[in-house]
Amino acid sequence: MIKINENFLELQDSYLFSTIAKKVAEFSAKNPDKKIIKLGIGDVTRPIAPAIVEAMKKAVDEEGKSETFRGYGPDQGYEFLREKIVEFDYQKRGVNILPDEIFVSDGAKCDCGNIGDILGIDNIVAITDPVYPVYLDTNVMAGRAGKYNPEKGAYENMIYMPATAENGFVPVFPEKVPDMIYLCLPNNPTGTTLTKNELKKWVDYAKENKSLILFDSAYEAFISEADVPHTIFEIEGAKEVAIEFRSFSKTAGFTGIRCAYTVVPKELKGYTKSGQEICLNNLWNRRHGTKFNGVSYPVQRAAEAVYSEDGQKQIKENIQYYMENAKIIKAGLKEAGYTVFGGINAPYIWLKVPEGMGSWEFFDQLLTKANVVGTPGVGFGPSGEGYFRLTAFGTRENTVEAIERIKRM
Ligand code: MLT
Repeated sequence: MIKINENFLELQDSYLFSTIAKKVAEFSAKNPDKKIIKLGIGDVTRPIAPAIVEAMKKAVDEEGKSETFRGYGPDQGYEFLREKIVEFDYQKRGVNILPDEIFVSDGAKCDCGNIGDILGIDNIVAITDPVYPVYLDTNVMAGRAGKYNPEKGAYENMIYMPATAENGFVPVFPEKVPDMIYLCLPNNPTGTTLTKNELKKWVDYAKENKSLILFDSAYEAFISEADVPHTIFEIEGAKEVAIEFRSFSKTAGFTGIRCAYTVVPKELKGYTKSGQEICLNNLWNRRHGTKFNGVSYPVQRAAEAVYSEDGQKQIKENIQYYMENAKIIKAGLKEAGYTVFGGINAPYIWLKVPEGMGSWEFFDQLLTKANVVGTPGVGFGPSGEGYFRLTAFGTRENTVEAIERIKRM
């Protein structure tokens, strides 16, 4: 008899963005005349920058000629891309990362979930609350989260670190020491960041407790404030305690093209039950080589072009476009009387829903009255109840119209 992985039965509902897509499809089917504006999932709308398209086309042509055709690429990704990553994302910020510490992949979402393969099932996991739901769901699937407690809206074995308006969305160290700590900075969904000094405290805490920080910096390109680190490796000692996840999805519009990378420093150690130190870079290398066959050559050439002079200029223009949307959303919502957060170092606006209303209730109201889709805060964790997220990744026209509709609501 085939047995299933019963941890999957502990998952609540479907994946957040799938639930939203289903609700929107149902509303749309019943109201075909309504023009729905989607500011829910953080999916980009600007086309891929010309310099990147050109590089990709050239690589496709190479694949069509016997002299330049390439089959499987290197497990960790082509050196031409890893070297650019090292130079632009790390050396330029004074950080020394080796090409062998970079693992190119098809997405930070996959990497954030898959990293659990190399980590023990009995590790205690801490997540900030609210946060990107992938960290929780993948740990539920793996069996680290334990049973779901419907009264608390939380899993028994998970440590939730509330980030609310009361603490300025900056989580405090939990009472029980976790083994794995997920930090998403700039934060999805609240847009919060930590300064170098604040992040240093987490690095020191992890060092002291032999914990691992899983640092998701998918939104680093949207940082506008000076004292906010773009990589956790800007913090002294972080290479001994952290894995960093990066993505081209939001930075360069690759949500459909798919390319990301994960940095696993060689200094980083995990431990066996008997206390033996093991190099996590070796384990992730083994896992990556066994379960993944690499990102396609044209896509890696496209990612390389992100770092070209034209590529840099063009992606920055797109980022500015989205951050201008963020300003429009923030100002419009404030005018309409909402309390709003985020939108300065991240393409997300986090707003307080009207008093006495739940975040799914606000979702329904926004969908039915304004025909605007957003993301209910509670979908990001129990402390997200009473909040709502709007993305700045829409087109300018839709963003302006959505805000006008919300003002009229
Ligand atoms: C989000 O809306 O939170 C993200 O776009 C989802 C993702 O990056 O997977």
